[in-house]
Amino acid sequence: MAAKILVVDDDMAMREMMALALSKEGYDLSTADTSAAAKEALSVGAYDLVVTDIYLGDGTGLDLLELSRRVQPGARVILVTAHGTVETAASAQRLGVFDYLAKPFEIKVLVERVRAALRAPAAAAAEVELGPESMIIGNDPAIVEVYNEVARVAPLPIPVLIRGETGTGKELIARALHRFSGHPEAPFVPLNCGAIPENLLESELFGHRKGAFTGADRDHRGAVEAAREGTLLLDEIGELPLGLQVKLLRFLQSGEVRPVGSDRTLEVPVRVIAATNRDLRAEVTAGRFREDFYYRLAAYEIVLPPLRERRSDIPALVEHFRRRHQERLDLPELQPASSEVLIALEAHPWPGNVRELEHVVQRSIVDSGSLADVQRVRALLEAGAEEPEAGRSAPGVGDDLTLKELEKLHIEATLRRCAGNRTRAAEILGIERKSLYRKAERLGIALDPEEDES
Ligand SMILES: Nc1ncnc2c1ncn2[C@@H]1O[C@H](COP(=O)(O)OP(=O)(O)OP(=O)(O)O)[C@@H](O)[C@H]1O
Ligand SMILES: [Mg+2]
Repeated sequence: MAAKILVVDDDMAMREMMALALSKEGYDLSTADTSAAAKEALSVGAYDLVVTDIYLGDGTGLDLLELSRRVQPGARVILVTAHGTVETAASAQRLGVFDYLAKPFEIKVLVERVRAALRAPAAAAAEVELGPESMIIGNDPAIVEVYNEVARVAPLPIPVLIRGETGTGKELIARALHRFSGHPEAPFVPLNCGAIPENLLESELFGHRKGAFTGADRDHRGAVEAAREGTLLLDEIGELPLGLQVKLLRFLQSGEVRPVGSDRTLEVPVRVIAATNRDLRAEVTAGRFREDFYYRLAAYEIVLPPLRERRSDIPALVEHFRRRHQERLDLPELQPASSEVLIALEAHPWPGNVRELEHVVQRSIVDSGSLADVQRVRALLEAGAEEPEAGRSAPGVGDDLTLKELEKLHIEATLRRCAGNRTRAAEILGIERKSLYRKAERLGIALDPEEDES
């Protein structure tokens, strides 16, 4: 029986050309022009091989790869992209991609690679759960470059620093790095360095032994140990006090931690990813961030573009959030955004980036049950602009605030952005819901019970 091949590319000429060449070789060909169509095809039919472009209009080939590994563990994948380099080829194979083809390529090369892929034994299946929250939307060249960087660096055991304004998707990219690390089943542990009081940070990071300090009534495993064999995300790394920077640097150098109150060190293999919305180089110059720690963390640096520099992705993002919130709120099918609304959204400066866009879409759906009411959308955009927090790339930078005041401002702003939804706010803050309650109480933040919609 002829081998079954699925060709996925949003570029029609490219797709047809590949399909034609491969059918001539006698293969049984199917095609898909979007990630959604490809997912549909993968969930109903069995394929021996998937040839997919790395970025598609409504998703990425990387997401598709993940789905294919889950639902069709027997299928090999050949990833096609216009931005190929030799290193990407090597890491794509480590990601479980069978082969990697850089555009432009000759038909005869495609045919050879397909033949080789079909002869090879299938890769082992990886157990990966993929929800809509983990989808990365966009095909603007600025974000596609980021996908390529993710593919390149994810399998390497080096620290990665992710830099970008608030709401640009730093955590999303950190999770993608983890998913493509080769150990997607290992723990992913985010720790928000800015939301934890300084005196607790060390024990939150490295753990403590019973009796190490007042209130330490049992042994506690820190975030580093919780992330053993997996990924530790040090979020808001720019907020980390200098003293802890030294301790973390020591950990990065030795791979060992010493829990507070313990006289022994433990070896803990962990991939460290750090994220920040600050310019860490400037922080180094200002003496607020250690240079040696910076260089260690920034072994590889990924810079996320602000939304205003990738406006062409706005329609796809709006559509993605419309579907997501419609599903989440269990609403009947909503009309896609009207062109008037899209024009208004495309003109906005988006200081709060993708998160602000998501918030506007969600509010518009909740308030007016649609994305067609341009007056409502304009009002939301203006209200957002008046909120000083939404316009800041780094809350509190340059202001004379104590860490505690900053923490309070940030929690309040996050709660507002989440329309009082505490589960979501806690998720964004990188803490447990319980800790959010404790912090709110300690910092004097009123939580209105009616507003909780989770
Ligand atoms: N390219 C994208 N596609 C789909 N959703 C996205 C994208 N970028 C960001 N988001 C969504 O926007 C929200 C904010 O993203 P995320 O939390 O990763 O941002 P961040 O850079 O960590 O922000 P902060 O600096 O405020 O912590 C999340 O709900 C995330 O899922
Ligand atoms: Mg974040």
